[in-house]
Amino acid sequence: MSEAASGEDLADLELGADAMRELGSKVLERCIDHVARLGETASCGDVHDIEAIRSARLALPEIGMPIDPLLDRLFDEWIPRSFTTPGPGYFAYVPGGGLYATALADLIAETTNRFVGVWPAAPALAEIEASVIDWIAQWMQFPPTARGLLTSGSSMSTWIAITTARECRLGTRIRDGVAYVSSQTHHCVAKALRLAGIAGDRVRVVPTDASYRMDLDALRRAIESDRDGGLCPFFVASTAGSVHFGAVDPMDEVADIADEYGLWHHVDGAYGGFFHVVPEFRTILRGLPRADSLALDPHKGLFLPYGTGALLVRDGADLRRVHGASADYLPSNPDDEVYDIASYGPELSRPFRGLRIWLPMMLYGAARFRAAIAEKRSLAVLAHERIAALPNIRVALPPTLSLFAFRIEHPDRSPEDNDRSTRDLIDGVTALGRVMISGCRESGRDFARVCVLSFRSRKSQIEHLVADVADVAARTGRT
Ligand SMILES: Cc1ncc(COP(=O)(O)O)c(C=O)c1O
Repeated sequence: MSEAASGEDLADLELGADAMRELGSKVLERCIDHVARLGETASCGDVHDIEAIRSARLALPEIGMPIDPLLDRLFDEWIPRSFTTPGPGYFAYVPGGGLYATALADLIAETTNRFVGVWPAAPALAEIEASVIDWIAQWMQFPPTARGLLTSGSSMSTWIAITTARECRLGTRIRDGVAYVSSQTHHCVAKALRLAGIAGDRVRVVPTDASYRMDLDALRRAIESDRDGGLCPFFVASTAGSVHFGAVDPMDEVADIADEYGLWHHVDGAYGGFFHVVPEFRTILRGLPRADSLALDPHKGLFLPYGTGALLVRDGADLRRVHGASADYLPSNPDDEVYDIASYGPELSRPFRGLRIWLPMMLYGAARFRAAIAEKRSLAVLAHERIAALPNIRVALPPTLSLFAFRIEHPDRSPEDNDRSTRDLIDGVTALGRVMISGCRESGRDFARVCVLSFRSRKSQIEHLVADVADVAARTGRT
């Protein structure tokens, strides 16, 4: 690159075929090497060395540089200073792993750089994206009226869903609209409500039962009280797998209540939605196919890299009514039925997201995704059995899907001491370097969480997890 930039024609940014091959193979080598070493990489890198971290703030060079020192710094200094999210021992937050096929799909999409915002500009590519949405809609047992959108993640999907619900159910009566979430609802829903113009004083937080599922009587009472007060209840969010404890709301019953009172029922399936791919798990997620909108994260449950979200809307016409827009400078869509992506979401220019799901799904086939998702749940059940059997451990909720939370509870110690021991357990296990777990605070108490959802996590990592939790828990017990 440096030679080209300092050559005769600075304005010529094209690389020759040989230079592209050389750059590409150098990048590919480093990526493959990185993946090959994930098993022996510390589960959490040094994210505290501020000086080394700030070294990533480089001045923009006037003359370009060769790629080798840039790759060295990236792969040797900066990438390792992070949580090792693609590693096999990553049980923190909600993992996914990041299938390599998606990186290749992005390479194709971004090298060919076609415009997929409007159907006439790249109709076959828009069809690829439409077929990905169809596959997801079929997995979720949504009706043929459903349409959807690939987004960057569930936060964006949720915001688009809420904006659609607001437009369809409230029109100009925005200030009268009331939304219902539970105490376990992910904070992205409150944020999306705010972004969609629903103020905090119009959001009701419904309590949950002993299993952290939305309390249906409390929901009904809250709706009736708002209705009696002249307000307009319009939206309720259920969660198919909460981020703290993996709880699944009674979606079928929430759907009944939503039908009765005319509410839009949104399901947050960011973490748990893709468990619906496995037929045996559909009873756990009963009612999910009745949602008016469903947010999903292929970057979690389909094991894809970050930046892959999806939204399904039961009646695709709603999505289109809110987002449809045209301009006479753009090629016109020959037919309302074709999948004109910009008519279903807020973006016009956007990456060709469809390929990053389509390529891995075509390469692996559905059966392997089903098998991998089913395995993650079995591994979580196994981890729970073993960890729950350790002394002085209290589990908050056994895994409904593939996530469970627990804390240290020495009967002769104060809750605050047990909180401290639980936090020490999280840090101590992660510091051993084989696995990483994270924590949460619920009802004023600290919990450690284990979420098994990386395709790279197999039985041996569960052995490491259980051994390291047992080891550190025994040590915290002695202090
Ligand atoms: C249950 C749940 N909902 C929503 C989100 C937000 O999704 P995203 O980070 O893709 O925007 C998350 C993220 O972890 C989640 O676990």
